Amino acid sequence: MMPRNVPVLKRGLGKTSERVAEIGLGTWMMGGGSKPDHSKDKECIEAIKYAIELGMTHIDTAEMYGSGHAEELVGEAIKEFPRDELFIASKVWPTNLRYDQVLRSCDSSLRRLGLKSIDLYMIHWPSNEVPLRESMRALEKLYKDGKIRYIGVSNFSVELLEEARSCLSVTDVVANQVEYNLLSRSIEVDLLPHCRREGITITAYSPLAQGKISSEVERGTKLGRELVRVARKHGVTPVQVALNWVLYRENVITIPKAVSKKHLEEDAGASGWRLDEQDYRALCDASAS
Ligand SMILES: NC(=O)c1ccc[n+]([C@@H]2O[C@H](COP(=O)([O-])OP(=O)(O)OC[C@H]3O[C@@H](n4cnc5c(N)ncnc54)[C@H](OP(=O)(O)O)[C@@H]3O)[C@@H](O)[C@H]2O)c1
Repeated sequence: MMPRNVPVLKRGLGKTSERVAEIGLGTWMMGGGSKPDHSKDKECIEAIKYAIELGMTHIDTAEMYGSGHAEELVGEAIKEFPRDELFIASKVWPTNLRYDQVLRSCDSSLRRLGLKSIDLYMIHWPSNEVPLRESMRALEKLYKDGKIRYIGVSNFSVELLEEARSCLSVTDVVANQVEYNLLSRSIEVDLLPHCRREGITITAYSPLAQGKISSEVERGTKLGRELVRVARKHGVTPVQVALNWVLYRENVITIPKAVSKKHLEEDAGASGWRLDEQDYRALCDASAS
């Protein structure tokens, strides 16, 4: 079955007037894991450029990815694109959450990305070591200085998210980046409805469960069979159904990581259509068993 070829749609970010591609691109494992790896630089740069051409203009990276090298690859790839067509997100690692460390980390990320401002800057994981108020104060300083356009968090519970918000005085947290896919649905209990009520975007990471969704299809599990059934009905692929399922709630956007051209085209084509409620529920039921 051919992947759909329609432009990637945009969704509102938090309560702001910003519109962000509902399917963006993740960059974890581009340019190395926890250490830089230069062996696939060309391929990764081409992948990021191609993703942008397909409309996946939200690029998610972090100072931790390849120990900064993923940001360098993003910086190299985005050079030729108009800045205002891109939405670049990055994150500060929990070992850098002291006030001065956050400021320094952001400057380093800006340099590697070749940007004057990062669109969305997030705390990558909460820390037990540093009071959240101290890190949030640094994020607000970066916001006031125009070095970051929006503040976000990642892997934050409802309680921590609310604590983070309460530390800000001139702006609000716009997004929480958390794991969400058909095999990992714990955010549906409280975080997802909470963020929906509060007007906070959920950025769903690992939307393909790092390849496990494809293996459900290959193994012909109950979920795999259901993905194939729904895909046939809509004239799309099972992976596109899985990504579209993640986007069913209006306040969710997602950032699958892909390097292969075929994967990028398929992922971009998961935008621009909608599952009906019956199929959405059938997929929920199949994933729960
Ligand atoms: N905030 C956090 O703590 C956190 C944690 C994890 C991830 N993230 C972010 O979320 C992004 C996405 O999550 P992820 O990388 O963990 O996992 P993912 O996006 O669920 O899966 C990535 C894997 O799926 C493959 N893939 C992509 N499109 C495909 C398709 N159409 N058909 C079959 N396979 C496909 C990719 O292959 P190829 O690369 O070979 O094309 C790659 O191996 C990360 O890159 C990162 O930016 C954030």
